[in-house]
Amino acid sequence: MIHHTVQGVNVPALGFGTFRLPGEDCREGVEHALGIGYRHIDTAQGYNNEEYVGEGLKRSGVAREDVFLVSKVAPTNFAGDAAATSTAESLRKLRTDYVDLMLLHWPNPSVPLEQPLQALARLQRDGAVRHIGVSNFPPSLVERAAGITHLFCNQVEYHPYLSQTALIDQAHEHDMLLTAYCPIARGKVLDDPVLRDIGARHAKTPTQVTLRWLVQQDAVAAIPKSKQAQRRLDNFAVFDFELSPEEMDAIFALDREDRLVDPAEGPDWER
Ligand SMILES: NC(=O)c1ccc[n+]([C@@H]2O[C@H](COP(=O)([O-])OP(=O)(O)OC[C@H]3O[C@@H](n4cnc5c(N)ncnc54)[C@H](OP(=O)(O)O)[C@@H]3O)[C@@H](O)[C@H]2O)c1
Repeated sequence: MIHHTVQGVNVPALGFGTFRLPGEDCREGVEHALGIGYRHIDTAQGYNNEEYVGEGLKRSGVAREDVFLVSKVAPTNFAGDAAATSTAESLRKLRTDYVDLMLLHWPNPSVPLEQPLQALARLQRDGAVRHIGVSNFPPSLVERAAGITHLFCNQVEYHPYLSQTALIDQAHEHDMLLTAYCPIARGKVLDDPVLRDIGARHAKTPTQVTLRWLVQQDAVAAIPKSKQAQRRLDNFAVFDFELSPEEMDAIFALDREDRLVDPAEGPDWER
């Protein structure tokens, strides 16, 4: 496993994503992922699976302090103290007394950013939230949020077809983690000839090359999701090879501004 040191904290660079992984599939997936070595789990209030993540965590037998557990406050829970009350509910479902990182899932322009961030900051003082972060925040909003509370992470879509240079530079400036969601572009990388060629040199698949490319970057984490045990194993097998600087650059050159997650109510990405 590669770890990134962010603000003095060692974060496992590869995590397990749980979007569209409901019920027993989630419980089983989390338990299995932890069993094979994943130590970073990503969920959200909006995924409606926090109780199954909690159950998987318990059944895995892995000590709570050995797992970097991330959840996200839904934008409908930003007003007043709702970020705090809904986080308390998340903790109950997750069967833990703290999350390592709580993110604001999406910007919500109808609620002043101070409200959810200050609510999370109070929880941070109580120990229920170790670190506070954001997700889907463009650069100017990250700056605004960082002026309100200390930020640990921005989680955004990032894969070979969507570069994130500005946000990565910003993450480095603030000593923040940049977590890549949709890290394998929801399977689009599978047939890529460049990734296939590079993979052939290392006896790895395009998916493994992509995940390696991400976690080999400073302060970048990746959280691939799979419902299938074999794929969870394959996605984790990225620590026994290394990409050369030329190979890294060849993958950076694949950018084509292909954004997969772009809802109408989403922010101006400032690109
Ligand atoms: N903050 C946000 O707004 C946000 C948005 C989207 C996602 N996320 C987080 O990021 C995580 C990952 O993103 P994602 O799930 O959207 O996309 P992803 O991880 O890029 O791709 C998941 C898809 O690829 C398939 N897959 C996984 N491993 C594979 C492999 N080795 N070979 C072939 N296919 C494979 C999965 O199918 P099977 O499951 O059938 O294997 C699934 O359809 C999410 O689960 C969630 O935790 C956050």
